[in-house]
Amino acid sequence: MNKNSWLLKIVVFLFALNSLSLYEGADRVVPSKEFQCSVWIEEPTLLVKRFEYANVFHTFTDWYSGYVASRVTGLPSRPHVVFVDGHCRTQLEETWKALFSSIRYAKNFSGPVCFRHAIMSPLGYETAWFKGLTEDIACEGASAPELWQHPDDKKTARLSEFGEMIRGAFGIPVHRQRIEKQASGLNILFVRHEDYLPHPRHGGKVESRLSNEQEVFDALKCWVSNHKECKINLVNRLFAHMSMKEQVRAIQDASVIIGAHGAGLMHIVSALPKTVVLEIISSQYRRPHFALIAQWKGLEYHAISLAGLYASPSVVIDNLSRILRTLGC
Ligand SMILES: *[C@@H]1O[C@H](CO)[C@@H](O)[C@H](O)[C@H]1NC(C)=O
Ligand SMILES: *[C@@H]1O[C@H](CO)[C@@H](O)[C@H](O)[C@H]1NC(C)=O
Repeated sequence: MNKNSWLLKIVVFLFALNSLSLYEGADRVVPSKEFQCSVWIEEPTLLVKRFEYANVFHTFTDWYSGYVASRVTGLPSRPHVVFVDGHCRTQLEETWKALFSSIRYAKNFSGPVCFRHAIMSPLGYETAWFKGLTEDIACEGASAPELWQHPDDKKTARLSEFGEMIRGAFGIPVHRQRIEKQASGLNILFVRHEDYLPHPRHGGKVESRLSNEQEVFDALKCWVSNHKECKINLVNRLFAHMSMKEQVRAIQDASVIIGAHGAGLMHIVSALPKTVVLEIISSQYRRPHFALIAQWKGLEYHAISLAGLYASPSVVIDNLSRILRTLGC
């Protein structure tokens, strides 16, 4: 069988889709004589099926899956994306557009569309990022040059490379170094949260991650202003009200990132090497999302585990000052 006829047989046939369930039964093999197509898409295209399409963590797993699929299939540039699910637009679409060449919705096609080079992006649930939440995946982060010189199948540079790809997508130079002049001081980023609905489709209840976030921030601010050993800039950011580019930039400029367990911390995937992460984990959210990212990126990670939703400011300050000492501050 020559390559073309084989390609024709595996080509995915998509009709206008109105719902996920319709799609489930809509993929089938078409014999070459029945095969006809008026619209052809020549360029490499990722077919992506989103599930929790408005949830930041799950969307990161979709982005990562798309990135890895492009890498393992050796695409020379960012592929186009076609959503083969029934979902709508979200504010995360801004980032989809920055990360990939274009975004289209299969449900919006008015007839059959054929792809010369279609790549089925694995579901976010199939990525190590999701599976690592419940399975023990022995793997640590290393830089690509280090692994190239000393290959080690227990180490990965993929997550760091993905972080660089995000930085690149927002026009932030990939090898930009943190400006750490004595004069400008050390940046500590406090990632603030808003009580929010992590899974809007499920109509769940609004969740709070840290009941006294403001009190913790105010105490840190006061402590930092009296810290004589070195100059510290404590930066307060509510990511929910910032563009993705501003969020990535804030992460990059930080030497230490503090935050309660929540979506904003997903951005540590774009943090520069040697950034230290301090996560405040309430009793209700003991899940290793950010410990894993830190591990797979080779970042130093610390956690303060709360008995409930309240964090004692002095415990946070103690932990932070211990971290700062290791940074010579
Ligand atoms: C769907 O198609 C219509 C008409 O072609 C276009 O105006 C609209 O922007 C498309 N919507 C999406 C989400 O691509
Ligand atoms: C850091 O946080 C933990 C709670 O997770 C606490 O037990 C500890 O005393 C704190 N301080 C230091 C210096 O580690």
